[in-house]
Amino acid sequence: MKVISVKHKTDIIKGECPFFDVVKNEVLTLLHFCNPISKDHTNVKASIHTEWYWEPNNIIFKNLQHHIMSEVEKYYKPGLCADGSRRYLEPDTFWCNVYKKGDHAISHDHRIHDFAFAYFVKSKWYSSPLIFTDSGKKIRPKEGTFVAFPGFLSHYVPKQRYDDTRITLSGNFRIKR
Ligand SMILES: [Fe+2]
Repeated sequence: MKVISVKHKTDIIKGECPFFDVVKNEVLTLLHFCNPISKDHTNVKASIHTEWYWEPNNIIFKNLQHHIMSEVEKYYKPGLCADGSRRYLEPDTFWCNVYKKGDHAISHDHRIHDFAFAYFVKSKWYSSPLIFTDSGKKIRPKEGTFVAFPGFLSHYVPKQRYDDTRITLSGNFRIKR
């Protein structure tokens, strides 16, 4: 076998959540009751990383995931077959990250999933960006906005340099089998 690296152009999408204040209140309340996982089990070296399937029955979080998923469906049209039939996406993992001063995420991808997203719940303009590793493309956090991308794209978060917490929700979508 021989491996040949090729440059590949792909797109990421950004958008807004129309009910961002409801999401923020819900996250800030429910974080008091979460069971964080150990930093040893994730590339996200944050002060809090909730369970991978956080609050699976929460209707606000379900609505957020479906809002982002429908934007991904609209743009990428994944699962479109040659005969015109279509296989749609479904949400998979969903969790919350709380970054405090010094926290960061090492470069990683979500390649076992078809698409991934990060949603900015709480941030300041100077909070650490999300950076796509290969291109160096920086996404500045803005409360109420999301970025969604194919799961194979590597990304990282540099060290949070300020005291304000930076809170994100992350999740994955997969094409229904
Ligand atoms: Fe990630």
